[in-house]
Amino acid sequence: MKVTKVYDCSIIELDKHHSSQGNISIVENCKDVPFDINRIYYLYDIPGGESRGGHAHKELKQLIVAVSGSFDVIIDDGRVKKTITLNRPYLGLLVIPGIWRELVNFSSGAICMVLASEKYDENDYIREYDHFLKYKNHGK
Ligand code: TYD
Repeated sequence: MKVTKVYDCSIIELDKHHSSQGNISIVENCKDVPFDINRIYYLYDIPGGESRGGHAHKELKQLIVAVSGSFDVIIDDGRVKKTITLNRPYLGLLVIPGIWRELVNFSSGAICMVLASEKYDENDYIREYDHFLKYKNHGK
């Protein structure tokens, strides 16, 4: 997980059914996302100007979806940074292990849903950027 790159993070298009009564998108375990979903959490009521994330994971895989509104996800492998705007409820950003991420520029009322491959485990987090660079062997 030390050698993963931002280019290995991809946008996944979820199943979407459109009708005159509105739309529905569906996520099925292991079918629409390339991992077993063990946890779902969502961020909401994010005050203007706030950012979230600011960490990496050693093993966790996540699919990040803007189910309402929009925000930017900055992904960083220690060498390359990329900013991806999420603003469609049927598009998810797959973030693989070993990628530093920051979520910024939340629109008012935005809801960020995260599908995660593992249950919550604080030991899986890398919360210091210099630790992250060392983990990726890009530090001193
Ligand atoms: P954190 O993952 O740091 O949030 P973000 O990356 O969105 O800024 O989590 C914030 C707090 O919530 C932290 O104290 C841990 C707790 N938390 C859980 O207890 N379980 C979870 O599944 C998650 C994602 C967070």
